[in-house]
Amino acid sequence: MQSLYGSFAVRPAALRSRSSNVAFRRSVSVHAQKPNPILKDQSKVEERDIIFNPAKESATDLQKVEQAQTTASSDESLARVFYAPDAEQAVNEQINHEYTMSYNYHQMACYFARDNVALPGLASFFRGHAEEERGHAQQLMDFNSTRGGRTKLATLAAPETEYNHPEKGDALHAMEISLALEKLNFQYLYRLHKVADDSGDAQFADFVESMLADQANGVKEVADFVTQLRRVGKGLGVYEWDKDIMDRGSAQLAQVSGTA
Ligand SMILES: [Fe+2]
Repeated sequence: MQSLYGSFAVRPAALRSRSSNVAFRRSVSVHAQKPNPILKDQSKVEERDIIFNPAKESATDLQKVEQAQTTASSDESLARVFYAPDAEQAVNEQINHEYTMSYNYHQMACYFARDNVALPGLASFFRGHAEEERGHAQQLMDFNSTRGGRTKLATLAAPETEYNHPEKGDALHAMEISLALEKLNFQYLYRLHKVADDSGDAQFADFVESMLADQANGVKEVADFVTQLRRVGKGLGVYEWDKDIMDRGSAQLAQVSGTA
């Protein structure tokens, strides 16, 4: 790993070894509290050549780190840098959106696994999506933790339990609901990206962009399925289509596990 100071023109001598680093930290602390006339004179000389003077520029941060409470009861984070409270709140809301999506997909999976519905391909598809959305919630929780935020899980709204529709049938009806949810989640992620932009948080924006790319693919996949289900109609068409996505799901799993 490249040294933090590797690219700078002048590397402070005090940072060249671990033991001298301790001495350097001590001198920073002393320097920050009581200006030393000798050091002051030296800094005048260094001002001309040094691009980055860590002793000077990190003094405030070092004081904050030294004073921060790290007990379990404290809510203070040592890792937090440029992570706005608005960003943290928006991430917590998105965690709830992802869990709610997962909750809905679990319910759909249970519906299609019923003995009087018996569409195992759809049951498997929605179960997979439920796990995927939960995975997204986990990614957001990990991100929050990395940036020094605090994850606060909120109440989830209970999903519908019945998906039959007199004209469309259950498969198409559930897939249309799924498409609406995926598109809504895409909009939520866009909103999250705007929060990242507004707070000037490049790392947060980059993280949301990777989620947006996945979400765009998710919307396209479900939109394709809606079109296919409109084409096959109800009854035998749905039965054959369900077997098809069951086979595709198994093939994808085999590819992932390397058994294909
Ligand atoms: Fe998601």
